[in-house]
Amino acid sequence: MGKMPSPKPFGFHRDQKGGLRVDGIPLGDIADTFGTPLFVYSADAITQAWQDLAAAFLKDNRRIHYAMKANSNLAVLRLLQRLGAGVDIVSLGELKRALAVGFAGEDIIFSGVGKTKEELQAAITAGIGQINAESVSEIDTIITLATKSKKPVPVAIRINPNITAGGHAKIATGSGEAKFGIASDAVPAAYQHLHQCEAIKPMGLAIHIGSQVMEVKHFASAWQHMLKLAESLRTQGMAVPKLDLGGGIGVDYEKGTPSPIAEFAKTVDTIFAKHDYALCCEPGRYLVAHAGCLVTRVIRTKTNSDGKGFIVVDAAMNDFIRPTLYEAYHPILAITQPNIAMGDNVANADIVGPICETGDYLGLNRPQSQLVCAEGEYFAVMATGAYGAVMRSRYNSRPLASEVMVIDGKAYAVSKPDSIEAMLAADIIPPPLVPAPAV
Ligand code: LLP
Repeated sequence: MGKMPSPKPFGFHRDQKGGLRVDGIPLGDIADTFGTPLFVYSADAITQAWQDLAAAFLKDNRRIHYAMKANSNLAVLRLLQRLGAGVDIVSLGELKRALAVGFAGEDIIFSGVGKTKEELQAAITAGIGQINAESVSEIDTIITLATKSKKPVPVAIRINPNITAGGHAKIATGSGEAKFGIASDAVPAAYQHLHQCEAIKPMGLAIHIGSQVMEVKHFASAWQHMLKLAESLRTQGMAVPKLDLGGGIGVDYEKGTPSPIAEFAKTVDTIFAKHDYALCCEPGRYLVAHAGCLVTRVIRTKTNSDGKGFIVVDAAMNDFIRPTLYEAYHPILAITQPNIAMGDNVANADIVGPICETGDYLGLNRPQSQLVCAEGEYFAVMATGAYGAVMRSRYNSRPLASEVMVIDGKAYAVSKPDSIEAMLAADIIPPPLVPAPAV
């Protein structure tokens, strides 16, 4: 991999003329070649994030499992697989993605509250490294399947610690009211049940309190809680080889300040110093968020009767839903230097998409001095490498935005362009609705 140029805000950087580049290539050139809206990823930025976390966290008996729900593009997965990551999956589709890029079964942890019998069976057949069971009924299903398996099935229990943390109510998972995990007081009986079953290899406990967690102290409380429970299971004579610390490391979307990786790792070291558990963590966002942006083109500008300004761009909530779904702030940068003001009476403008909903915006009240508003200009919505493309849809019959990855200074398409033809071809008009041929 080539070295990241510096300075590198959000993994991207300005050249001397003020143009925004990714790993040395002008973003505008990439957009000209591949069209917009377009997700652009930097392989170097992903590699850097991985190396920073690996350097801080990895030791003997520790592993990082990338939570691929953040960005499951096969190119991203292959890159992380080559860097030595394991992976955390939540569906059969994600299992197939993991296997397709070369992860071995044992590199894979299967999380999720609603794994079906078919998904569990496929995971067992693939020689899954660990299933994180989230309910007593799931454990029963796993045991039934495991008794038909040739070798013991590795199972951990995800505990619900009743701790609230995370960047938004919709992504906080650790509260007692959330659907996730097994309540801590019910864990000993459930674990014992697993432990007594010969078809099961008890792996330990897992926890995940939420996503976009900015303060390490929340992780610390969760891990201490899990450690206490694990110790008490061991005292009762049960084998608890491993603890899964979960994902959720937050990123600073607004300023790009690096995530508190050193503090995260130091807290792990302190809490587990005197214990011999194998440890793993499951970051998603941290590894990819700042390594991606969404490039969009200005369609037109307008001003409403109150003098409020709008910059209408060709990316919309179907391409990137975080701003409207989680009230998330993402920097929006002009790809060329700001040089055109919109109207003197308009200080701020909303950057909106073409979709017919007021909630269709990428940014609200952004100072126009930061933005170039001329028709045809490109903007980059920053830090969209995580929970961007994976959450896109074809709403309003808009084809899915394409994805590009820059590797060693060259941009490669990493998804096939969607098309209106492909969209129409996906629907079926059933026979009763097909008009009879004219006689
Ligand atoms: N492990 C488990 C069990 C999870 O449920 C999640 C995320 C992760 C790991 C990875 O969390 P991360 O390190 O990426 O924070 N769409 C939302 C985020 C949903 C996260 C769901 N679970 C967003 O755009 O903010």
